[in-house]
Amino acid sequence: MRLLVTGGAGFIGSHFVRKALAQGAEVVNLDLLTYAGGLDTMEDFLEHPNHRFVKGDIRDRDLVMELMKDVDSVVHFAAETHVDRSILEGGEFVLTDVYGTYVLLEAARRTGNIKRFLHISTDEVYGPIEEGSFREGDPLNPSSPYAASKAGADRLAFAFHRTYGLPVVIVRPSNNYGPYQHPEKAIPLFITNLLEGKKIPLYGTGENIREWVFVEDCVEGLWLLLQKAQVGGCYNLSSNFELSNLELAHKILEIMGMDEAWIEFVKDRPGHDIRYSVDSSRIRSLGWRPRVGFEAGLKKTVEWYKTHRDWWEKRKSGDFQQYYKKVYGGSL
Ligand code: NAD
Ligand code: TYD
Repeated sequence: MRLLVTGGAGFIGSHFVRKALAQGAEVVNLDLLTYAGGLDTMEDFLEHPNHRFVKGDIRDRDLVMELMKDVDSVVHFAAETHVDRSILEGGEFVLTDVYGTYVLLEAARRTGNIKRFLHISTDEVYGPIEEGSFREGDPLNPSSPYAASKAGADRLAFAFHRTYGLPVVIVRPSNNYGPYQHPEKAIPLFITNLLEGKKIPLYGTGENIREWVFVEDCVEGLWLLLQKAQVGGCYNLSSNFELSNLELAHKILEIMGMDEAWIEFVKDRPGHDIRYSVDSSRIRSLGWRPRVGFEAGLKKTVEWYKTHRDWWEKRKSGDFQQYYKKVYGGSL
């Protein structure tokens, strides 16, 4: 199997490349190394004989066309991914997430030799749900510029299947967590703030609910979909383990042996979705199950951030200070 993976220097993408190499696949890894990607995220597989890293932009048509010719499948992670950044300025989200996806789809269609195009969408495309869980056929109702851009990409991918017969598979995972996640995201931000002697900044009242899946479980599901998914199919991927952000903060504090004085309630995110929930029976019917329980996954994650200070400290310095000031109104 020869794969073009986009965004393989980022969080989920790097875990996926690790898995694909372990399974014997050849991987061409296209990543722009934005603030979210890093060579240090790929240290253990960068020089693997079946791994070729290409620093480049998914919006570069010539480059994408050239790389597409040598592969038989595409797994597309590359995106601007942080909701709070999309609220500050959405332009890059539209350009990368929507237009970048278009460039990849178009190149895949033109080469005519792509057997699977696995498009990584998100559960956020459905928008919030107060009770119950979304099924794959439910309408999309995204709230943030990030989610709206991802919804555009998701539907473009489907349009390329409908219109041109491109063998697209769409997957909509819920919130992932685990090692190598950028410290702008909730779980690593909370953990690393505590490790630095700073508080957990909880938006609003902390009542918003998210479903958490350990990144290695997610990657197992993606690998399965690459082999077994129905072409043109769409698959939710979630553990169905949900927590309010306040409950999440308490769990992290408990693991770290700290008390709730380390929680600080801060101004809410505009348009903050109250709850995400998706029904994953479709992918479960293919044999996927999450294997890592939340307590075990969270402990592993806390341990990883404790022992990889160099990795996250540099990501929280420099520009991150200005970003933090804009979102939270204070400095780190
Ligand atoms: P991430 O932000 O950690 O990594 C994104 C990667 O894409 C980075 O390595 C970055 O350098 C690269 N990239 C950005 N713009 C690029 C461009 N124009 N050309 C080439 N590379 C570019 O993201 P993540 O959390 O690993 O998410 C991966 C995918 O999964 C995204 O599509 C995201 O929408 C989706 N997703 C993530 C989650 C989650 O909880 N993290 C949940 C559901 C879906
Ligand atoms: P996040 O990791 O940004 O993922 P998403 O918004 O894509 O679900 O945030 C997860 C939840 O945590 C979300 O409800 C927002 C909340 N949150 C905070 O309360 N404080 C923070 O500092 C951050 C980054 C997130």
